[in-house]
Amino acid sequence: METISFARGIPAPECLPVEELADCARAAVERDGRTVLSYGAVGGYEPLRAWIAERHDVDPGRVLVTNGSLQGFVFLAQRFAGGRVLVELPTYDRPLKILGSLGIEVGAVPMDEEGLDPDALEHALRTGPKPAFLYTIPTFQNPSGRTLSTERRKRVVELAREHALLVLEDDPYGLVRFEGDAPPALFELEGGERVAYSSSFSKTIAPGLRVGYFVLPPELERELEAMAVSTYITPVLIGQATVHEFVRRGNFEPNLERVRGLLRVRRDAMIDAVAQEFPDGVGWSRPEGGYFLWLELPEEIDAAQLLARAEEAGVTFVPGSDFGGAPNTARLAYSFVSPEEIREGVRRLAALLAPVAA
Ligand SMILES: Cc1ncc(COP(=O)(O)O)c(C=O)c1O
Repeated sequence: METISFARGIPAPECLPVEELADCARAAVERDGRTVLSYGAVGGYEPLRAWIAERHDVDPGRVLVTNGSLQGFVFLAQRFAGGRVLVELPTYDRPLKILGSLGIEVGAVPMDEEGLDPDALEHALRTGPKPAFLYTIPTFQNPSGRTLSTERRKRVVELAREHALLVLEDDPYGLVRFEGDAPPALFELEGGERVAYSSSFSKTIAPGLRVGYFVLPPELERELEAMAVSTYITPVLIGQATVHEFVRRGNFEPNLERVRGLLRVRRDAMIDAVAQEFPDGVGWSRPEGGYFLWLELPEEIDAAQLLARAEEAGVTFVPGSDFGGAPNTARLAYSFVSPEEIREGVRRLAALLAPVAA
């Protein structure tokens, strides 16, 4: 029996525009090979940097294009090593590990269906030592799929101003929206003095390109550039130039529409399947985009123990505790598997849940 993976938060293979990228990579080298095959600007391939700067209406000098956005997160975390960082919980597990490895004290801000709780944020700001920054994923959050409401976004920005708090808004999924209106980015609300913004072409084009970026206050951009030079001298310009060729040809929006369509049917398949198959007492988030569904199981069920039995039954997921969530929570990714596999995987999980909930 093939194992069905709800653990892999990566795009389904058909989301990747393989042929077009092959063509863009060749064209990029032919057009600008002497630049992209050499050492070059540490801040990123200039034409792509300019394209990103224009999209966000900022000076290109504030844009740092990195080898995936996680690399930029490492630089930011290293810059504040030894300090304290606030994170919403649950949150993306890799940043948690990076912060831990740098000896950074992590302060947890709880969240609910509307995203991080601003009252809890205010409490954390008034009590512990001043944090270096707040790390938040306000839209289609990894792992919960939840989106911070507009009202709460305004409060977070107000608190950032009041407490001179730097906020890192990590937004790789925002454009992967299937329906509904997008709330304003924290970055747009604030104007960029207190909010640093990061995003990536991993979910909108292809993660293997390893092209992510940060929009930073100017001084911080220069500091992180210096760290980037000491780490890799120059980022992978050929990947960045391939992305630039892709967007230059006008492929970005049509590709995004295509990807949204492919993922929307997966989201729908998962929501329909859990609604049909799961017993009473199991709750789940209803994301309008992104990759993930968040499960809240009856309190007596430990998701890590359930995972061991699920693996035997041919289906995997990530227990919520890996993201700092409660033991009875779990992340189901619908991004990688086909709609048929989603239905079958949910059936396998439901068969394990039914006897417990009965
Ligand atoms: C919230 C979040 N931030 C950052 C990343 C990493 O993105 P990149 O591929 O640009 O390093 C991911 C990848 O899954 C993610 O979920």
